[in-house]
Amino acid sequence: MVTNDNRHVVSVADPAAMAEAAAERVMTRMSKNPGRIAICLTGGSSPRQLYQLLAADAWRSKIPWERVHWFIGDERFVPTDDPLNNMSAARKLFLDQHAPAANIHPIPTSTADPADPDRGAALYEAELKSFYGADELDPARPLFDLVLMGVGPDGHTASLFPDYPAIAETERWVVGVPKAHVEPFVPRVSLTLPALNSCREMLFEVAGAEKRAILTRVLAGENLPASRAHATGETVWLVDEAALPENFRG
Ligand code: 6PG
Repeated sequence: MVTNDNRHVVSVADPAAMAEAAAERVMTRMSKNPGRIAICLTGGSSPRQLYQLLAADAWRSKIPWERVHWFIGDERFVPTDDPLNNMSAARKLFLDQHAPAANIHPIPTSTADPADPDRGAALYEAELKSFYGADELDPARPLFDLVLMGVGPDGHTASLFPDYPAIAETERWVVGVPKAHVEPFVPRVSLTLPALNSCREMLFEVAGAEKRAILTRVLAGENLPASRAHATGETVWLVDEAALPENFRG
């Protein structure tokens, strides 16, 4: 039985409204932490408008760039200049213009060996542990202030695919995924549920009619990776009108 404590579904009109709502949540979350802030970004197309907004004057000037560290929930083994590289997309859309280079934490898939994705995963896990300052996650002190997520057509989130061993991982924070279940079919590195769920807020962005069927299953609590991802704190699903399941319509 999947439990989804503290889960809120927030419906918005369209992807533009979703990006605005997401930017507001990101800012509010940052304002709650006067110290070092850790944000875990996501790949895919859903967060692109949010990333663009964060680079726009209205939002950029409010972000305490020196105090914010940016991580990524999963990465594909593609070159850094490939548009399918998740962190490169975020860098291009907003990070490189504003974030100090030392605050950007990419998964080293461009230098690690794609034949051994667990090696790249181990390097990133070591980086996360060093940032966190401990080898064990303490539920009272989440790793991330905010984790952004998306959901794929098969119910995957980050690169945690249905029925893959990575989804059952309870010890490691980061794992190698030798073969993806969806395009691009390249090896991946993914944070695991223990690491992703260690956050004050998890924020999903889901838009488009093609997402409605899988979202209906996820929100019904079916045993899918995206249903099992939820924050230690608050989990928010931002859903646009086209993706909103029938039973969530007012
Ligand atoms: C990835 C993502 C992945 C993504 C979903 C949704 O690297 O592929 O992290 O989990 O969030 O597949 O993708 P879209 O936003 O493109 O629909």
